[in-house]
Amino acid sequence: MKIQPAKSLRGTLNLPGDKSISHRAAMFGGIAEGITRVNGFADSQDCQSTLDCLSMLGVEVKRENDTLLVSGPQGGLKKPARILDVGNSGTTARMLSGILAGQPFMSELTGDESIQRRPMQRIIDPLTQMGAKIESNQGRVPLKISGGDLKPITYRLPVASAQVKSCILLAGLLADGWTTVIESVPTRNHTELMLKTFGANLSVESVGEEQHIKVSGKAALHSQEIFVPGDVSSAAFFICAALMVPNSEIILKNIGLNPTRTGLIDFLIQNGAAIEILEKRNLNNEMVGDLRVRHSRLIAQTGEGFRIGSPLIANLMDEIPILAILATQSDSDFLICDATELRHKETDRIATIVEGLRAMGAKVDELPDGLIIPGKQTLTGALINSHGDHRIAMAFAIAALVADGPTEIIGAASAAVSFPEFFNCLNRLVK
Ligand code: S3P
Repeated sequence: MKIQPAKSLRGTLNLPGDKSISHRAAMFGGIAEGITRVNGFADSQDCQSTLDCLSMLGVEVKRENDTLLVSGPQGGLKKPARILDVGNSGTTARMLSGILAGQPFMSELTGDESIQRRPMQRIIDPLTQMGAKIESNQGRVPLKISGGDLKPITYRLPVASAQVKSCILLAGLLADGWTTVIESVPTRNHTELMLKTFGANLSVESVGEEQHIKVSGKAALHSQEIFVPGDVSSAAFFICAALMVPNSEIILKNIGLNPTRTGLIDFLIQNGAAIEILEKRNLNNEMVGDLRVRHSRLIAQTGEGFRIGSPLIANLMDEIPILAILATQSDSDFLICDATELRHKETDRIATIVEGLRAMGAKVDELPDGLIIPGKQTLTGALINSHGDHRIAMAFAIAALVADGPTEIIGAASAAVSFPEFFNCLNRLVK
């Protein structure tokens, strides 16, 4: 895919449904009583992987215009006839494992090359403590999960991960008694909000700096009608594009603004970005609003430049690739740290960001847990390898808009993992 520099970005977009919320709506619908209706389900490869796995477990999935109908089988999930394939989706692998751990059958789960490299010990440990028997390839997929009766546990998360938290809460739903997950750094809380919507007995308590999330097992979930807001992580690409490209003004409609996901937007607004939040409203316990974004420069509040580390980093982890591009165009230097988790995403994103920025002639220092990126840099159009990572492909497609000369993205089709319409939306905005 070849991308030319842009003169301006103008127009209004409706973005696809939030990926995290879509995965959860489908999975919770699959284990709830009755038919769950999901409006605005993300039409992405990752969410399709969740639907495919659920179908293999006997869940009925139908489309009725823009609504997805999900209903679990009578008498509970069925033993899958084949190995479950999660494709590229870490959320499917980790959350579904929590559900499989509580089923009275053995199931196997695997995924693509990228998934085969990603760490699964972080879910194997708590699920094993709960009584599941799991065989793995040295802490990686394929996983062989022998589920059954689970016992509740209290588990302090060793890594800030919403997928691990959600995995344990889902297993906790199937255990006898109260399961508690303790997180010291807040991560996205869609699971907690949506489980409550589905009727789970769940409470969240702040204890000092920690959050204690408790769920009661053996209580039935009840089907719901869910409205999925636009994906703020997909919006991030266009937000940063409009900030960087002169003469830009765009409106992004119906974007999810859950405070555990708006770290990037909050940071940008605090540092002078012209972003307005319009019509903020509540939809199924989730905040939603429209965004107006105009070209503007980030201005650091102190002479030391910008620093993004813990706890903010957990709130904008998926947005670091595009933030790294924006950093090259800002007034001051950027330090991104406490981000070792980036090395365990679809690619080692610290390495793939560094490789892409250097290919475009930018200066960047690689740290074990992050990056140092000087501001006020000129990017040169280049050949960029996304290494099949959707967010790297999209971030560098946006970098191409402010580069000198055309850029070619290898593996641009990987955008479909989260955002199949990305390049069409971009074409609509670019003038
Ligand atoms: C997600 C959680 C995050 C995020 C991923 C989606 C989720 O991963 O990076 O894109 O839907 O729970 P971790 O839980 O590994 O931090």
